[in-house]
Amino acid sequence: MAHKDQVFQKCINPQCGSEFDSHQVFFKCPACGDLLDIKYNWDSIELPKKLSDFSNRWATRSNRLDFSGVWRFRELLNFCDDEHKVSVGEGQTLLQSACGLAADLGMNPDCLFLQYEGMNPSGSFKDNGMTAAFSHAKMVGAAASACASTGNTSASMALYAHSIGVKATVFIGEGKIAFGKLSQAMDYGGHTIQVAGDFDDCMRQVQDVCTELNIYLVNSLNPFRLEGQKTIMLRIIEGLGWEVPDWIIVPGGNLGNSSAFGKAFAELKELGLIDRVPRLAVINASGANTLTELVNDKGLRWNGGDVDQQIIDSYYANLDAANYRADTIASAIEISRPVNLKKCLRALDVCNGVVLDVPDEEILDAKAQIGACGLGCEPASAATIAGLKHLLADGTVDKDARVACVLTGHLLKDPDATVNYHSKAAREFSNPPVQVDNDLQKIIALIKS
Ligand code: F0G
Repeated sequence: MAHKDQVFQKCINPQCGSEFDSHQVFFKCPACGDLLDIKYNWDSIELPKKLSDFSNRWATRSNRLDFSGVWRFRELLNFCDDEHKVSVGEGQTLLQSACGLAADLGMNPDCLFLQYEGMNPSGSFKDNGMTAAFSHAKMVGAAASACASTGNTSASMALYAHSIGVKATVFIGEGKIAFGKLSQAMDYGGHTIQVAGDFDDCMRQVQDVCTELNIYLVNSLNPFRLEGQKTIMLRIIEGLGWEVPDWIIVPGGNLGNSSAFGKAFAELKELGLIDRVPRLAVINASGANTLTELVNDKGLRWNGGDVDQQIIDSYYANLDAANYRADTIASAIEISRPVNLKKCLRALDVCNGVVLDVPDEEILDAKAQIGACGLGCEPASAATIAGLKHLLADGTVDKDARVACVLTGHLLKDPDATVNYHSKAAREFSNPPVQVDNDLQKIIALIKS
């Protein structure tokens, strides 16, 4: 029987399919422990006739919700009243054409685009999700929030928690967080707890802590958060004059983004607002490649929701037995137990997606190439271009296909990675500082040389 409310929560496992009111706070299905989705009775929502109708909101940007790059698409994530919608001006991000980089990669120069999510208020794509999570937190009257983080979630959470006056507690792994990100959480007043372990340990602890202390969890297990991240895809389509690209490429960590993107495209197609779904490529770092191994080596699939849990359980048992720890320079995606795994499998199904992993050296080279285009990013984001090189080389992506890569985090999040790369003159794209005596003639000679 269809749920009576305009919006409700529903377990993604078709065998369970339990439904819950949107005012209830869970981060997993209380009936079976699987992930939850936000569902809408679309018939009761007044939707635009076509996506380009959203352009009208540019004319009314003095309305804070029309200004937000998330809430100006609010009909597609309308789970709360306008008075509860929180915004700090997120989503003012643009799809940038990357002709030079495209040419370097041997692509048609008009075909490569970079969706620069580093331009968000806290410097990463997380703000798209956090504006939605904190709107729900406000709607249910939450007093405190928490997350486990490799850095960006914590920065974004601390910013939004401050904006609605709730407490923010951050769980970070020891030595596992880039300083740009840690500095934000501390500066925005987040209570930072450094656990002697890695992100996966923090993720386990924070769930128990939130349950025990009734704290609002804002990791991407939170289905409301992923609703906000759907709008990254809407802005890409908007950036292409309301056309759908051929490929979306995104780094894969906890797999919230890829999950949200798949949901966005499934809904837009169902609503007749797009006529086709782009393909999706999710790129892991080789040192944190659970998704790649499960999909490419173990054959794990969404399978209509009947995911083979045994494959996952035995994979994780092997990780435990080997005392395996993810390890990559792309610390943002240094995750071996992605919580949104099943939703990501669904997204791969919806988008006829592919998965691959790329080694750290390739990530760093790609990062320098993106930087040389004038659009810096942190290492995790550069996994997109590193992955694209492989997809072009093996013919999966055609050189004339329109490709949009999501640059998830700003260059300044992890300056150490950038400085270390460029300081080593031996790297292919490194651009080290040149030393010179404090002497005018020598400086001039150097510049002329
Ligand atoms: N890129 C950046 C810059 C990130 O910070 C993250 C995740 C990802 C990619 C991966 O995205 O989880 O949706 O697959 N960072 C989380 C954090 C885990 O705690 O900041 P995902």
